[in-house]
Amino acid sequence: MGASVGAAARAAGHRVLWCPDGRSEASVERATRAGLTGCSSLAELAGESDVIISVCPPAAAVDLAKSVVDAGFVGTYVDANAVSPATAGEVEAVLASPDIRVVDGGIVGPPAWTEGTTRLFLSGPGSCDVAALFEGSPLGVVDLAGTIGEASALKMGYAAWTKGSSALLAAVASFAEAAGVSRPLAEEWDRSQPGLNLRLERTLASVAPKAWRFVGEMHEIADSFAAVGQPEGYHRAAAATYEDMLDPQE
Ligand SMILES: NC(=O)c1ccc[n+]([C@@H]2O[C@H](COP(=O)([O-])OP(=O)(O)OC[C@H]3O[C@@H](n4cnc5c(N)ncnc54)[C@H](OP(=O)(O)O)[C@@H]3O)[C@@H](O)[C@H]2O)c1
Repeated sequence: MGASVGAAARAAGHRVLWCPDGRSEASVERATRAGLTGCSSLAELAGESDVIISVCPPAAAVDLAKSVVDAGFVGTYVDANAVSPATAGEVEAVLASPDIRVVDGGIVGPPAWTEGTTRLFLSGPGSCDVAALFEGSPLGVVDLAGTIGEASALKMGYAAWTKGSSALLAAVASFAEAAGVSRPLAEEWDRSQPGLNLRLERTLASVAPKAWRFVGEMHEIADSFAAVGQPEGYHRAAAATYEDMLDPQE
């Protein structure tokens, strides 16, 4: 996702840097293909950037913000990760300084290579300036004009349904297999739940490689639900389902 967000900013006419330090060959390839300029260190990136957009696994969001502070950044920091409003608040607290303006973000959709597929939701002071950075690019922007945490809440609500329901479907399939009723259940779904077998097939194919990242995201959603007095168990269970899908070799 990060490479496509960087490419979108480039398409809107901006110079986009990234930091290969500690990243894998696959990330280097994606960034190179997207035309992003590599920096030798985070300090160099922080020194040369007016805006930093964080797009990383949700579990790394707070530590990454700390590294950016340690690197001496002055400017606007956008956390665009799938984190709870509370974690977005933690990121804001880590960055608290008169020199850093924090904007909350949440991305909905696949990597933003094609116009109309993907939206970056924004909230917090300065969100309209960040929105302007992507004008004319394939990445759509929705400025909620709200406070820090609102864009993250929007993302949590969206993923609560999409990834939560995918986990439920995968868990039902595992249950049916263990109980020996996969085939008759699939036949009944064809009769009375059109499209569900196809959704299951697509879910299992697309989710397995990303399951490790979804575990953390489900816990962020559970925390978001708990914070407003809603049951957190749905998404704790979804996290357990995604954990079951992890490749034991990795
Ligand atoms: N992909 C989507 O469709 C999608 C949709 C909506 C929102 N998002 C959000 O976008 C964010 C990234 O997701 P993704 O799909 O792009 O994940 P991804 O394909 O797994 O890529 C994650 C990237 O973050 C890097 N990374 C890992 N640990 C890091 C750290 N500690 N500091 C800095 N970078 C680190 C990884 O580098 P290495 O692997 O090289 O270490 C990799 O380049 C998540 O918050 C996710 O929820 C993604």
